[in-house]
Amino acid sequence: MWNEQTELEVLQQIYDLTQTTTAVQNWRNLLIFGYSLQRDLKRKLLWIWPTALDLKKLNGMLKQLDIHHVLSIGCGSGLLEWLLSAVANQELSVYGLERDPNWWRSKYAVRSFIPLNYVEQAGSKLTNHFFSGCCSGVTPCALLFCYFNNRSAFLDYLSVFEGKWLILIGPQPAVGIHTDPNPLQPQLPDKEWALRELCDWTDQNVVAIYEKRII
Ligand SMILES: C[S@@+](CC[C@H](N)C(=O)[O-])C[C@H]1O[C@@H](n2cnc3c(N)ncnc32)[C@H](O)[C@@H]1O
Repeated sequence: MWNEQTELEVLQQIYDLTQTTTAVQNWRNLLIFGYSLQRDLKRKLLWIWPTALDLKKLNGMLKQLDIHHVLSIGCGSGLLEWLLSAVANQELSVYGLERDPNWWRSKYAVRSFIPLNYVEQAGSKLTNHFFSGCCSGVTPCALLFCYFNNRSAFLDYLSVFEGKWLILIGPQPAVGIHTDPNPLQPQLPDKEWALRELCDWTDQNVVAIYEKRII
């Protein structure tokens, strides 16, 4: 019978897999373990559980595009971000940003898998400096939005981002799950943003990488 205790034990096993000295090699075990979890708990940890092949494909693309510092906006538990850097053997730094620190620091939230940065008031004036503040002084070269669903915040972040890569992960439009932006129909504000790479992920999800070009 699935209960709160079982959930805590399962979470502990996942934390253990990410925290041992061999954690980087554990990402495959973590994925296998994750597939066996109940839907609600899976969702609490990650909106989309990629396969090992999905992660490898994305990692290959990031390498090819020379993307080494990614800031994930609305990263939730940060498990996807942890997986991405584990697959890249720590050659990729993935930072996380969330809103509502009170929630993420509360006993009800899952513990995050990467250190979280917070935007205290979403929608307040952001500057480019804000991004390097989230990434230990490094300006990220890519912003990542996975299953993000907040159009006005998305536009705010984009308007102050000076990097040239944008990574959108979400469902294919036909699936009927609403995210904003949707990776394939993002309605980007500037014509300079052009689709550069597409990668299908499991369960009708897709990763779209856009590049900001100087016209
Ligand atoms: C559907 S969840 C996706 C979480 C995670 N990316 C995933 O794939 O599992 C969307 C997340 O965006 C966050 N979010 C919404 N508006 C935000 C904002 N203005 N700034 C940062 N995060 C925001 C929410 O708190 C939530 O955790």
